[in-house]
Amino acid sequence: MELDLVVRGGTVVTAAEAVRADVGVKDGRIVALGERLDGARRTLDAGGLLVLPGGVDTHCHIEQLEADGTVHEESFVTASVSAFAGGTTTAICFASQFKGHPIGPTLDEYRRRARAALMDYSFHQIITDPTDQVVEHELPAIVAAGIRSFKVFLTYDPLHVDDAQYLRVLAAARRLGAFVTVHCENYQAIRFMTEALLARGMTAPKYHAWSRPPVVEREATHRAIALAELVDQPIQVFHVSCAEAAEEIARAQARGVRVWGETCPQYLTLTAGHMDRPGFEGAKFMCSPAPREAAEHERVWAMVRRGVLDVISSDHCGYSYEGGAGKARNGRDANFRDIPNGIPGLAARLPIVFSEGVSKGRIDVTEFVALTATNPARLFGLAPRKGTIAVGSDADLALWDPGKRVTITNALMRHAIDYTPYEGLEVTGWPVATIRRGEVVMQDGRVQAEEKSGRFLPRGPYALTRGRGVFANGFDPVG
Ligand code: URP
Ligand code: ZN
Ligand code: ZN
Repeated sequence: MELDLVVRGGTVVTAAEAVRADVGVKDGRIVALGERLDGARRTLDAGGLLVLPGGVDTHCHIEQLEADGTVHEESFVTASVSAFAGGTTTAICFASQFKGHPIGPTLDEYRRRARAALMDYSFHQIITDPTDQVVEHELPAIVAAGIRSFKVFLTYDPLHVDDAQYLRVLAAARRLGAFVTVHCENYQAIRFMTEALLARGMTAPKYHAWSRPPVVEREATHRAIALAELVDQPIQVFHVSCAEAAEEIARAQARGVRVWGETCPQYLTLTAGHMDRPGFEGAKFMCSPAPREAAEHERVWAMVRRGVLDVISSDHCGYSYEGGAGKARNGRDANFRDIPNGIPGLAARLPIVFSEGVSKGRIDVTEFVALTATNPARLFGLAPRKGTIAVGSDADLALWDPGKRVTITNALMRHAIDYTPYEGLEVTGWPVATIRRGEVVMQDGRVQAEEKSGRFLPRGPYALTRGRGVFANGFDPVG
């Protein structure tokens, strides 16, 4: 069999091991792993490089539609370029629901936009309004179409759901065999704190962190897990920022509850102090949960090493600093409540996690692969097609120079956003080529791929969406 591509002489890394091997590719898939593979139409020399699975980023807000009619400024095209520049080949993005409206038309529009993608992609369906019609008719159709995960927000106007609505979503997911992801912060507590701060004239970006301290995240994390436990529905707690919240996950995991935790590079590198920069500059670092104090980084890493937090996603958010739909949409003197939350990080994710993790000796390279590709692919039903290097898997690879030192600049991020919160951060380890389904889509920073060449990844039933069959008093409220 003539191979389309051989990646020769690199160290192939999976979540299990790092071994010297060539990778043989045919028709977009990995068909051989071994020594001295030849007979290929194209050979890429990976001598001295790590051959990693292409990154799988399961938390990306791309071209997301918002209830006020605005759209995130990052398109599926620009986000794909950014993903490839940073070694990522697959993303899961967010289809919106606007309260008081059905999901269908918004989802159709989002699907239409996503077809422009260069990277492979799937969707989480945001649920803000789980009416009877949504639960009984729309969600079954959405799951049947391969969108097998939902996101609920326990805070944010106009997105948040109350406990009753959250329970409805959990029950619907149980019935449908879908997975649930949760934004855990207490809506009423943040409102209360925000009103108190604004009443005292404390309006600057830095007060964003004051309005939502760790206790607000810890409480909601505890509640989200407890209610999921009641329904016996597996969940992932999104963007865990601090050990306090992660402890809630650890305690539940120790009880056998099917709960997983995600963190993001911002909670390993940024601090509340970044939001205290002069003028409006602090808005560049505003995301929710808020970045904490510097000492928290090491505590979050400890939770990563324990396996309590087993996915590191970007939570990439396409808000520019200057643009009309971005941070300054309500003016540069807007109070912190009126500045959109979220920061870009799609291209920066892998270099930051590699550098802060592997290069600084906090994790080894197999753990890096698990956190950034294998675990997210498994958790969201994309494995073994995505997230690993194995015969039969898609040939999605990042060729990685572990010694390359780079200072992060916005230009290197290749996104549509006019800033990166990681400007000036020095990293060791950088992707020198990205391969998507056997096609070299990035080499030495040059991205080359056709628009619309990305594929939607429908996700069928998989084991991790199933509960464990444990109920209070033996009573199953859903069955
Ligand atoms: O601040 C953030 N994280 N914005 C994006 C939306 C979300 O909560 O994930
Ligand atoms: Zn969130
Ligand atoms: Zn998010």
